[in-house]
Amino acid sequence: MVDFPTAARRARHLFPATCVAAALLAAVAVPLGAGAQPAAVSTGTVKYDIDDVIIHPVHSLHGMVSSESALASDVGVEVLRKGGNAVDAAVATGFALAVTMPNSGNIGGGGFMILHDGKTGKDTAIDFREMAPAGASRNMYLDANGNVVQDKSLFTQAAIGVPGTVAGLTYALEHYGTMKRADLVAPAVRLANNGFPVGETLARLFVAEHDHLVKWDGTRHVFEHDGKLPVTGELLRNPDLGRSLALIGRDGAKAFYDGPIGAAIVKEAKAHDGLITAEDLKNYRVVERTPVRGSYRGYDIVSMPPPSSGGVHVVQILNILSNFPLKDWGPNSAKTIHAMAEAEKRAYADRSEYLGDPDFVKVPVKGLTSPAYAKELASQIDLEHATPSAQIKPGKPQPYESDQTTHFVVADSHGSVVSVTYTLNTNFGSGIVASGTGILLNNEMDDFSAKPGVPNAYGLVGGDANAVQPKKRPLSSMSPTIVLKDGKPWLVTGSPGGARIITTTLQVLVNTIDFGMNPAEAGSAVRVHHQWLPDELRIERGLSPDTVAILRSMGHKVVERQSMGDTQTIQILPTGFYGYADQRDPNGAARGY
Ligand code: GLY
Repeated sequence: MVDFPTAARRARHLFPATCVAAALLAAVAVPLGAGAQPAAVSTGTVKYDIDDVIIHPVHSLHGMVSSESALASDVGVEVLRKGGNAVDAAVATGFALAVTMPNSGNIGGGGFMILHDGKTGKDTAIDFREMAPAGASRNMYLDANGNVVQDKSLFTQAAIGVPGTVAGLTYALEHYGTMKRADLVAPAVRLANNGFPVGETLARLFVAEHDHLVKWDGTRHVFEHDGKLPVTGELLRNPDLGRSLALIGRDGAKAFYDGPIGAAIVKEAKAHDGLITAEDLKNYRVVERTPVRGSYRGYDIVSMPPPSSGGVHVVQILNILSNFPLKDWGPNSAKTIHAMAEAEKRAYADRSEYLGDPDFVKVPVKGLTSPAYAKELASQIDLEHATPSAQIKPGKPQPYESDQTTHFVVADSHGSVVSVTYTLNTNFGSGIVASGTGILLNNEMDDFSAKPGVPNAYGLVGGDANAVQPKKRPLSSMSPTIVLKDGKPWLVTGSPGGARIITTTLQVLVNTIDFGMNPAEAGSAVRVHHQWLPDELRIERGLSPDTVAILRSMGHKVVERQSMGDTQTIQILPTGFYGYADQRDPNGAARGY
């Protein structure tokens, strides 16, 4: 690294390049409407010893939004600037992402929101996960010989769960927001009607998923022009989606669940052996749940409870790690990675056995997140040698007490923060657009365990607790998380990434809490992942070969694969908001004002 002379270092201190760039970008953000105030240019400095900072987060003084789409972050921050609260901004961002990230932003899927209300101090979890249609059944993905039918739970009408996103976002707005629904949906309507330039990431996904998309008339109608799917730089317009969004803006969730959009979804299902009926849509319910809580080195962790496994296992792994001096061992040292991998294997083994929809199965949340159970698991970890996954079975927590996907985060000036992960499951979900709606529908049914022991799209295995049942919600790994210090939001984070969501979120927490990294450093550090089965320690490019050699000598099967996750993080300090949109997807941006 270049060592700046003192004067230059001070100059960097005052005007970190990324802060200036971010402020300028924020200043040119397209306003929601006439009368919006120009962005204030902030030159505040980060808390950390500035000379030690490797990458700067974006800084702002009044509020921040970070998402995988700069256009959607712009929409959210304009809502904050106009006086909306964090929930208002999250709702507008969520609808905008449904346009600008058709691969995972959605209104045809589902997700989870974790909210800390700055006014009341309340933490809550809003569950808008998809539900299995009433016609679903345990063996629906098996053939006559009891074998899983390839791709049936992924790329057919039978893969689609009853979507929850529209119900979830409108529920959050009605209960915790302040602005008018139509005003918050309007920017998404404009983006859908006017179009947006397709970025490189999205263009690559269109190539990768081409065959799944062009199979369906409704999907070709939206995305195919002159026989081709959109390429980088092309303007992608989706007026059908614009019309659907405008209806939602006007009539709310009714337009989707008991109106023209729902009717189109049911028509499409009927035409292609799908299961979703008008009754299924009418019966969809958002569930407000109590978040999972944990404590890690003096910080309170607030995360998503079942039907996500995310919060439970983030807390469980942190509990195990609290038995080890990670700070002394250092970030991404062989010792730290070994301890993380061993903790992760044990947590994912438990996941396969115990986790499912709490409205259908008893999930031992308290046992799995108890520090005593974590101590017992920590004591089984050999600090010199990897335990083969074949020797690890689900543990025995205290019995039942009597991810592609996208993530976004918002923090406002009233002390409220919102963390949302929502998804269609794999990129573009089932690939099916209900004709005339412009809406891509999920393939979330693949998150159920089609057959005990048979891995799903993310290589995750499960059993009875996550078997298909009518009206049940499939188990998720989504881990929208808030960290509180002295009862006030300190960090808000989360990630897409299927099975890697839990470990990616975990590493942001460890990097910030144990190693004092800022959100940019924590989000850009090389990631590692172990999910018990397959027995492999997955790493990103960039880990030192010496470290890899040590890990191999300890018995880990280290494999280098594609990058993992795409975190969105905001840290709230007395000096302001510090945000970072993971640059594993260059379309993302943290925007503040
Ligand atoms: N569809 C990925 C997840 O919910 O974990």
